Order: sequence, then C-alpha cells, then structure tokens
Amino acid sequence: MSFYAGERQQKIYSSGASGKRPIVPVDLTQLEEAARKKVPAKAFAYIAGGAGIGQTIQNNRTAFQSYEIIPRMLRDVSVRNTSVELFGDKLPSPLLTSPVGVLEMVHPRADIALAEATSSLGVPMIFSNQASRPMEDCAAKMGDSPRWFQLYWSKSNDLVASLLKRAEASGCSAIAVTLDTTILGWRIRDLDQAYLPFLEGKGIAQYTSDPVFQRLMDEPDDPNAPQLKPKVTLHLLKTVMQMKKNYPGGFWKNLRSDRPLKAVRKFTSIYSRPSIKWEELKFLREHTKLPIVLKGILHPDDAQKALDYGMDGLIVSNHGGRQVDGAVGTFTMLPEIIKVVDDRVPVLLDSGVRSGSDMFKAIALGAKAVCIGRPYAYGLALAGAAGVTEVLSNLMADFELNMALSGCTSIKEITPDTLRKVRY
Ligand code: GLV
Repeated sequence: MSFYAGERQQKIYSSGASGKRPIVPVDLTQLEEAARKKVPAKAFAYIAGGAGIGQTIQNNRTAFQSYEIIPRMLRDVSVRNTSVELFGDKLPSPLLTSPVGVLEMVHPRADIALAEATSSLGVPMIFSNQASRPMEDCAAKMGDSPRWFQLYWSKSNDLVASLLKRAEASGCSAIAVTLDTTILGWRIRDLDQAYLPFLEGKGIAQYTSDPVFQRLMDEPDDPNAPQLKPKVTLHLLKTVMQMKKNYPGGFWKNLRSDRPLKAVRKFTSIYSRPSIKWEELKFLREHTKLPIVLKGILHPDDAQKALDYGMDGLIVSNHGGRQVDGAVGTFTMLPEIIKVVDDRVPVLLDSGVRSGSDMFKAIALGAKAVCIGRPYAYGLALAGAAGVTEVLSNLMADFELNMALSGCTSIKEITPDTLRKVRY
C-alpha cells in the first residue's frame, strides 16, 4: 500500500514520455465532458441529471468547501497505508462504488465491466438494484473481491426476500437499502427528453432474472398502480422492439413473446413502496443475516432511529442530488450524524465526492469510507472496464497523496484536527 500513488503517477508520466495520454481524462470535469460527447444525449441526461434545478448537486459540492485541510510537516510519510476494514472485508482505500442503474446506456458490457474493474482493484462494488446485468453474472467475474447489494424495497415482500437470498448467494458482505427513492424525483432533464430507460426494458435485469419476479409477471397487476397507456405510434413500436431486445434471450427469441412487455409493466407497478415505514425494517432483519446499511440518511434523528432499529451502518446520501432539489449537502450533515452515531456503526459518505481531498475531509470528520457514482459511469462510457479502473485508481492515488502530504501515514491519523472549519 505504500507505493500506490507513486506507481500511478509514474505510469502516467512515463507513458507520456512515449507520447501516450491517460485513456480517460484525470480531470473529472473533462471526463464528464468527454462522456457527454460520447454517449446518446438521453443516456447522458439520465446519468448526469439531478432533481429540479440541480441545487442539491451544487450543495453537495460546495459543502466540501466548509472545511479546509491544515497539512503538517516533517513526519516521515515514506510508508503509507490507506486500507480500512469494513464488515469483515479489507479495502485498499476507504472507497466503494455507489450503485448506478442502467449502465447498458453507456457501455454494452455495463455492470460486467464494472465488476471486472472493481475486483481488479479490490474496491467493493455495490450491485445496483436497477442493474443491466444480474448480480450472479457480476459475482462470477469477481473472485473474492468484496461486493454489496443495493435494495429497492419492492411492493412485493416475496421479491424483496428473493433478492436478499440471491445477494447472500452472490457473496455480498452487506445490503444497502435505498430509502430516498420510494418515488422518482422531479428530474427535469429526463422529463424534457420524455425518457425513462426502464420503459425500454433497460435496467431491470435483477428483476427479469428473479424466479419470484417471473412468477409475479403472471399475476394480475395492482389496479391502483399507475397505468401507462401510450398512443400507438411508430416510436412506440420501436420502444417495444427495444423491450424485446433487452429481455433475456434477445430480440429473435422474444419476437412473438409478450413477456418483455409484461416484465416492464410489472416492474413499473411493483418496483418501489412509498408506504414503507421504520417498523418494516424488521422484515429485512428476519430475511437476511447480512449487515443492513441504510442509504439516504441525512437527519441526525433518522441516524438515531436507525440505531434504535438495530441497523448495522449508514450511508449519508441524497442519491447524488437526484431526489429532492435544494436538499442539504451530505458533507454538511456528516458531523452531526457522526456525533449521534458515536462510533457504534460505520457511517459512509455518498453524493458529491470528486477528489482525494474530499475523501480526506470525509474521513477526518468520521466517515469510514466514501462512495462515488457518476465519475466511474463516465469512465465506463469512454473505455469500458479499463476506463473505470483508471477513474478509481486516480481517486485512490489522489487520496493517498493528500493523506501523505498532510502528514498522515494511515487512516487512523486522519482526525478532525487535520481540518479547520471555514468561518464566513
Ligand atoms: C434510480 O435509482 C435513479 O436514481 O435513477
């Protein structure tokens, strides 16, 4: 662990001497711009977009300016260790990949490429509930590398139980239950394009590969669920073709089958349960032995409630600013949440992390690790698994250098007094 950042720099600079640039931009603003140029406009809008006018995305970023690092000198930082332990897994760096759905929109190998990249580095991948490939196919590529499963709480408890069972069988170390997306946020970029990828049968692979979901497809839909009744047009026929292409087996096998359509209809009627309440967490506890981590916690009182309900960890997240517009930046809430939790369970920080310095600040204020989403999706768009590997490697190297240059040689030395709160 003591040479990682140096190796990464050396590799980039020595390739430069032979006339080669990194395969994806190291500068994340340029990375995003390059991905914008490469992927279809609808796909880019879906990934890059946030709720409403995008104030939460901005708040996530500006939150990191509220603290500054005060580097310390002459401390022998020649040997460094960035590893941490989380739910029994040893991580090379306090970093996980957040679940990002529908990766097939940006790369044909989608979640499989992500599984290859994360496992080549030992970075835990959180399998998306809205993945483009089943979790078992990803797990098969990952050896012993750590992975978690993100759960959306479906209207069907049978489906929830089945997904939990599959996550256990796929070697997951934890379940991250997303609490903030029981209804989709008001996403103006997607609304303006009138585009939701799930309606093309994309991003529903965890469902179509599930035996309980297959059974549910044959049951009548909930009459109270919103009914989609699009007008028959040439475009609608194209959308139906997409559904057939994206359903397991491929277009020709599904040409005469009504199952691809049934799958999309069933998915839209059961994918989430807005009525969910705290008491129902007991159901999860009864149906999995894995640690349960609540993703989407922002209020210290909710953090306290999570502890009262015996939860094993928290991810402070606002879903990358995709749900509530004008919500508080996650880093802003971290100190209050850390205070309430008082080291009883690990707290992770998600949404808006874009640099090694952001990682350092989050760790200094008590986060056990951070999660990143959009940047790796852009790396995937540009160069598949190799692109993801570069994005993650760059972030880990950036973190290690910030740690060393601030005078710390290990995670435990990154304490609150490495920072100063900015007084405006
Ligand atoms: C779904 O999870 C989304 O954020 O689009």
